[in-house]
Amino acid sequence: MNQLLLDLTAVLLLALGLRGLAKLRTARTANGLAALAIGLAVVGLLLNQGLAGWPWMLGGLALGGGIGVVLALRVPMTAMPETVALFNGCGGMASLLVALGVVGLPGPMGLLATVSVLASVVVGAITFSGSLVAMAKLQEWLDTPAWTQRQARHAVNITLAVACLVCCVVVVQGQLLGLAPLTLLALLLGIGLTLPIGGADMPVVISLLNSYSGVAAAAAGFVVGSALLIVAGAMVGAAGLILTQVMCTAMNRSLTSVLFGGALGASSAAAGGDKEAESYGRITSCSAEECAMALEQAERVVFVPGYGLAVAQAQHSLRELARLLEGHGVEVSYAIHPVAGRMPGHMNVLLAEADVPYDQLIEMDVINPEFPRTDVVIVLGANDVVNPQAKNDPTSPLFGMPVLEVDQARSVYVVKRGLGAGYAGIKNGLFELPQTAMVFGDAKAVINGLITELRGLGVGKKALATV
Ligand code: TAP
Repeated sequence: MNQLLLDLTAVLLLALGLRGLAKLRTARTANGLAALAIGLAVVGLLLNQGLAGWPWMLGGLALGGGIGVVLALRVPMTAMPETVALFNGCGGMASLLVALGVVGLPGPMGLLATVSVLASVVVGAITFSGSLVAMAKLQEWLDTPAWTQRQARHAVNITLAVACLVCCVVVVQGQLLGLAPLTLLALLLGIGLTLPIGGADMPVVISLLNSYSGVAAAAAGFVVGSALLIVAGAMVGAAGLILTQVMCTAMNRSLTSVLFGGALGASSAAAGGDKEAESYGRITSCSAEECAMALEQAERVVFVPGYGLAVAQAQHSLRELARLLEGHGVEVSYAIHPVAGRMPGHMNVLLAEADVPYDQLIEMDVINPEFPRTDVVIVLGANDVVNPQAKNDPTSPLFGMPVLEVDQARSVYVVKRGLGAGYAGIKNGLFELPQTAMVFGDAKAVINGLITELRGLGVGKKALATV
C-alpha cells in the first residue's frame, strides 16, 4: 500500500473518530478509530522515510506510550481537565521542537517554509507554556497573582506580542538566530495570557489551547511537508474552537471576556468545594429518612448530578437508588446541564460508567419545561447549574447563564456537605426557598442512607414482588 493511500485512510478514520466522539454510545469505538488512524500515519511515515534511527523511534514510543498508559490508568475523572491541559502542552511542545529541528537541517529554506516554522514556533510555545500554567492552576499549584488583575497586564502582553512580531521579521530576513528570543518571548506570552484567567474559566481556556495545539500541529505539517499532519491539525483546531464556543455559550461568557476580562468568580480552590459558607438566611435541613419518605410518595423524580457527585464517586449508588425507585413504579430521569461538573460531557460519562440508560439522561432545554410536573428533585453535588439567581438577579455574576429550573418542582432536596459555594464562588438562592430542604452529607453516604431508608419503608420488597 503506498503512503498516499495510507494517509487518506488515516484522515478518513480520524474524521470518523472525531464524529463518533460527539455521541456517548459511539465514543469508545471512535477513540479506537482515531488511535488506528495515528498508527496508520506512523506506518505511512516509516514507509516513506525508512527505518533510519529506529532505536530512537522505539525509545520514544516506549517512553511516551508508557507515560500515556500510566496516566490513563491512574488519573481520576475529576482530574481530567488538568490531564487534557498537560496533553495539549505536549502537543504544543512537539510542534515547537519539530519546527526548531527542521531549521537545524542543512539547505536553504523558502518563504513558505520559514513562515510555517514561525507559526509552529509561536503557536507551539504559547500552547506549551499556557497549558502548563492552566494545569498548575487547576491543580491549585498556582494562584492568580494580584498584579495580573490590573490593566497593566494588557501592556505586558501587547509588548511581548510586538517583540514576537519583530523577531519574526528578523527571521524572515534570514537571521535564523532570531528564533531563540522568539521562542522565549512566545513562551512568556503563553504564561502572560493564561495567568490572569480565573479557575472558573479555565476549562474554556483548555479547550482553546486544544485548538491552538491543532493549529501548531497543522503548521508543523507544513514544516515537514506532511499532508496528514496538516489535515489532522486543522481538524483538532476547528473542533477545539467549536467546543470553546459551545462552552462559552453554556456559561453565558464571551470568549473575549474569558481571555481578557480577568479572573471570574472563585479561585481554583473553590473547585474542591472548600470555600467558606456564604451567609444564608432561612435554611431548612432534613434527614435522609424524611427525604426517603418524599421519594417513596413521588410519582416522578428527577436527579440533578453535579461536580460533588463525581467527587463522591456516588454514581453506582445513585443507579442503585434509581433502580429501587423504578421498581416501585416511580418515573426517574436525570437532568443534564451542559457545564455540570468540570468538563464537557462530565456527567454523561460519570452516569454511563454506572450503566444509567442513555434515554434517561435529559438535556437542559428538554427537562426545564418538565420541572413544574415533577414531584421531587434531588440535587446531588450540583450548585451553580441550579442557581435561580442566574435567571432572577441581574447583579449576579451568573446572570444570563442558562440553568436547570429545579425551583419550579414541587419539592427540592439538595444533597451537599455544607453551605460551600460552587465553582463560581457565589451564594445560591435555591437553598433558601420554601420548597427546598438541604440533606447535608457526602453524596455517596446520603444516597446509601436513602437506599437503606427506602428498604426500611419496604420499597425494595415491593419492587422484588413486582419483578
Ligand atoms: P459546582 O457549582 O462547582 O458545585 C459543586 C458542589 O458540590 C459544591 O457546592 C460542593 O458543596 C458540593 N460537593 C463537593 N464535594 C461533595 C461531596 N463529596 N458530596 C456532596 N457534595 C459535594 O458544580 P456544578 O453545579 O456541577 O457546576 C459546575 C461549575 O463548573 C459551573 O460553575 C460551571 O460553569 C463550571 N465549569 C464547568 C465546565 C464544564 S465544561 N463542565 C467548564 C468550566 C466551568 P459542599 O462543599 O457544600 O459540599
